[in-house]
Amino acid sequence: MTVEKSIDKQLPSTRTTELDSICLKAEVIPVLAVQRIEDAVPLARALFEGGLTVLEITLRTDCALEAIRRINEALPHASIGVGTVLTPAQYRQAEEVNADFVVTPGTTEALYRYGVTSPVPMLPGVATVSELMTGWQYGYRRFKFFPAEASGGIKALKAFAGPIPEARFCPTGGIGINNAEDYLALKNVMCVGGSWLTPKSLIDAEDWDAIRSLAREAAERFHH
Ligand code: 3PG
Repeated sequence: MTVEKSIDKQLPSTRTTELDSICLKAEVIPVLAVQRIEDAVPLARALFEGGLTVLEITLRTDCALEAIRRINEALPHASIGVGTVLTPAQYRQAEEVNADFVVTPGTTEALYRYGVTSPVPMLPGVATVSELMTGWQYGYRRFKFFPAEASGGIKALKAFAGPIPEARFCPTGGIGINNAEDYLALKNVMCVGGSWLTPKSLIDAEDWDAIRSLAREAAERFHH
């Protein structure tokens, strides 16, 4: 048996189904970087109440893991992705805080291998066909396309659909209220991600009503 086949066999096909059911719940996944732990729950609650029920919380800040724990407890019906996972050690931390899924900005062989054995599904970040092909070999079928705008945007996604039409993406990076719709119109896009729903100025001002409105605008405009 080839290496590729034995790797493919390790990945349960339900993994794609799990990611699809998470991504189907929201066309838009807000990306959160929680700087102050006391902001975690009100911020996540504002997004959730605005209609965005799938959140990516990045491991970019010191209080990220504690923020994820608190958000998970306060919003048991939200789907929590742990983002900016760079290493298998961080992947394990995401498992420990009961992440629903893991998101990576890019990929390494180590992450691809770890993700195959983890009970928590991964949305690996890719920007090129080669990275996509490597993930494909491991059995991955759903990807984050990052950084979307800087890596060719819509044109690149259309081009990916030529050789690998079955792959589906969550483009992130440079996406906002004005271009999200164009991405969502593509056949191989299941949802989009972005930090435009969590502006630092509104978080610093603790303006949760404004964030709830931003979320509502996105949820209503991009509803399936
Ligand atoms: C991410 O990690 O996905 C990005 O920071 C989000 O990109 P954006 O800030 O351009 O939306």
